[in-house]
Amino acid sequence: MVDGRLYAAKRLSKFKASEIRELLKLTEGKDIISFAGGLPDPSIFDKEDLAEIARNVILEKGDKALQYSPTLGVTSFRQELLKFTASHGVKVKDTDDVIVTTGSQEALYIIGRVFVDPGDIVIVEEPTYLAALNVFRQYDANLIGIPIDNEGMRIDILENVLEDLNKKGLKPKLLYSVPTAQNPSGVTMSNDRRKRLLELAHEYDFLIVEDDPYSFFLFEEESFDYLKTLDPNGRVMYVCTLSKIMAPGLRIGWVVADKSIISLLELAKQAIDLHTATLPQYIAEEALRQGVVAKTISRAKVLYAKKRDAMLKALEEEMSDIATWIRPIGGFFTMVFLNDKDIDTYDLMYEAIEEGVAYVPGKSFYVNPERGKHSMRLNFSYPTIEQIWIGIARLSKVVRKHLAVKQVERT
Ligand SMILES: Cc1ncc(COP(=O)(O)O)c(C=O)c1O
Repeated sequence: MVDGRLYAAKRLSKFKASEIRELLKLTEGKDIISFAGGLPDPSIFDKEDLAEIARNVILEKGDKALQYSPTLGVTSFRQELLKFTASHGVKVKDTDDVIVTTGSQEALYIIGRVFVDPGDIVIVEEPTYLAALNVFRQYDANLIGIPIDNEGMRIDILENVLEDLNKKGLKPKLLYSVPTAQNPSGVTMSNDRRKRLLELAHEYDFLIVEDDPYSFFLFEEESFDYLKTLDPNGRVMYVCTLSKIMAPGLRIGWVVADKSIISLLELAKQAIDLHTATLPQYIAEEALRQGVVAKTISRAKVLYAKKRDAMLKALEEEMSDIATWIRPIGGFFTMVFLNDKDIDTYDLMYEAIEEGVAYVPGKSFYVNPERGKHSMRLNFSYPTIEQIWIGIARLSKVVRKHLAVKQVERT
């Protein structure tokens, strides 16, 4: 038998299997409560309406909806996206500033392909979205992590880093941020920091990626402007997705950016997949037009707020003496930090799976894995409220067992 690995291109050594996916493989077929993924609760999918829309689209617009379509996306869909994005508070000039992508993950991949040369400096929040780190690593970026607190990225630390780089004659190419209801932490960047970030981008001449899958689910009053809206000179690429507000299976994402950027993304996308699947674009266009997406968002927001509250209560009851956590104001996740900083949650993972609970070890979200080793990301959007309570109790048991063993080893 041929061993494919012997023929692999050198660039493949940069490819790292997503730990979430590896982990999900371990949990398949077992009775496990998973806090690991980032899945929407399937009960939010508006199956009846979508079935009717899909049927009508195929029967009435099938000649176009089942055909090849432009790389930038179906024009009427882009117009609908433009309206939707503007109604959500993000400034968009016209359809030339929008490209449809195959999920927002493809958008990140293309952005990396277009802008990141080996060795280019890319700045990220720390912790940050695991699959974005993997994209930038594939392009051999020189990653710099800036810590976050309850108000998002520490812009004071960013400023020092930029000054230091400048002294060495270096500057970043790109800054990647999930400023609103962040993955993995659920925090949102304050408006003062957003404004300062834009000033710094201008001063030090770098581009910003504003990745925004979760701002539709804010559980508390938050007043902020999108980075894209604060952006006077086209430095921000705003990346959004229908995955969390309609259905991830449709694989629809989009980027809003200056025309000069969009045309580069278009060029790269052409070689990757010609265009995003046409049929889901037509279905999504109708779903947006008929208010199906708006309905899904309002139902999901209520559901996820309840689940967030359940997770916070369960953590309080089960783990307050052994861990701290971030109180997420929105999104799908919270980040838990064990008090005992020597515990590596990666090592604990297999015991957790034995006990019937899964999470993603914190290391995966850090540029420097050491900094996150005692943390873990927990998802609350997918499990039921009952599962959240049972799962957190199981997690608490696993950590306590581990602490007890360590105690015995010490004595
Ligand atoms: C921050 C962030 N960006 C991008 C994505 C990718 O989403 P999709 O490709 O489904 O649009 C996710 C998915 O969980 C995410 O959390």
